[in-house]
Amino acid sequence: MKVAIISGSVYGTAEEVARHAAKILNAAGHETLHNPRASLADVLAFEPQAFLAVTSTTGMGELPDNLQPLYSMIRDQLPGAWRGLPGAVIALGDASYGDTFCGGGEQMHELFGELGLRVVLPMLRLDASETVTPETDAEPWLKELVSALR
Ligand SMILES: Cc1cc2nc3c(=O)[nH]c(=O)nc-3n(C[C@H](O)[C@H](O)[C@H](O)COP(=O)(O)O)c2cc1C
Repeated sequence: MKVAIISGSVYGTAEEVARHAAKILNAAGHETLHNPRASLADVLAFEPQAFLAVTSTTGMGELPDNLQPLYSMIRDQLPGAWRGLPGAVIALGDASYGDTFCGGGEQMHELFGELGLRVVLPMLRLDASETVTPETDAEPWLKELVSALR
């Protein structure tokens, strides 16, 4: 399956998790698009059959700057061809930020809803105040994702 990985990162942690996810999906036979600077045209041209968002949270519950433009373009256009496709979200955050914990991931989850994607797994929240190994922590969830996409 063609899986578009939409990633947002400030310091690179979410980027590492996205790269790890791509590796696991590729090893399971999926084709992935993973470009932290992808435009909407890039994503449309890939003709995705599934979506994975991997994003950290910055500011007060905001999406990283590298993801803002793509997020806005998708939100403005809501491509109809993506309706009904499977999707899932990995959110990185820090619980010490309280109410805005994983706010970036929440925004992507809402966008997936507006797109009419079929969310196949509950959002994975990776809490920087609890772990320094987010990639390995994501592995069990990624295995579930591989099963869900089968
Ligand atoms: C300036 C700043 C603001 C942040 N704001 C939030 C926030 O509102 N909510 C949250 O859950 N985490 C917040 N975080 C924590 C990051 O999302 C978390 O450390 C994440 O692992 C960073 O991933 P990255 O390296 O991909 O940017 C913030 C971190 C920084 C440095």
